[in-house]
Amino acid sequence: GRPAGGGGNSGAVWAAVRDEAMGCTRCPLYKDATQTVFGEGPLDAPLMFIGEQPGDQEDLAGRPFVGPAGQLLDQALAEAGVDRARAYVTNAVKHFKFARRGKRRIHQTPDAGEVQACRWWLTQELDIVRPRLVVALGATAARAMLGKAVTISRTRGSAIPLEGGVEGWVTVHPSYLLRVPDEAKKAEERARFVAELRMVGERV
Ligand code: URA
Repeated sequence: GRPAGGGGNSGAVWAAVRDEAMGCTRCPLYKDATQTVFGEGPLDAPLMFIGEQPGDQEDLAGRPFVGPAGQLLDQALAEAGVDRARAYVTNAVKHFKFARRGKRRIHQTPDAGEVQACRWWLTQELDIVRPRLVVALGATAARAMLGKAVTISRTRGSAIPLEGGVEGWVTVHPSYLLRVPDEAKKAEERARFVAELRMVGERV
C-alpha cells in the first residue's frame, strides 16, 4: 500500500486546506450556517470516520460530533474498544443544513449536489491523512465515500475497496440509533453498530 499519512509537511498542508474551507462558497449552505466544521484528529490516524454534516451543536462549536450523535458515537467506540484519539473524524458536508421552526433549527439532509460540492474537501482530507480504513456513518457519508448512492443494509458488514488500497466500510449513522422508537429494536441496532465498530477497530 501507499505510505501512511501524517508525515512530512502534512500538518501545514492540512491547516492550509482547513483555512481555505473556512471561506468555502462551493454550495449555498455557507449562507445560513455559523461556520465551516472541518474534520479533526491525528493526521496519521489509521482510521477515518465520515459523518453526514454538522448538527446544531457542531455548527456552534465548530467541531464535528460534539452533540448527542457524537456522544453516542463516543460511547459506542469505547464499548467497541476503539480509541477515538486514533481516529480522524469528519463529515461529508461541512456546513449545517437546517430549516428554522421558530427558535429551533431543524436538521435537513444534504442533497446529492451539496455532497458532491463538498467532496472537494473530503478528498483532500483523505489524501492528507491516508487512513487504512474509512467508515461511512449513514447514507450521506456512504454516498460521499463511494461517489454514488448505496443502501446501508446492502453495503454494511463487509469491506469495500477504495482507491489506493484503502478499505471502506459502511454502517448506520448514530443519529439513526437515537431515533429508533422501539426500545428492543434500538438495543439490537446499537449492539450491531458496536459490533461493527469493534470489527473495524480490530483491522487497524
Ligand atoms: N452528525 C453528523 O453526521 N456529524 C456531526 O458532526 C454531528 C452530527
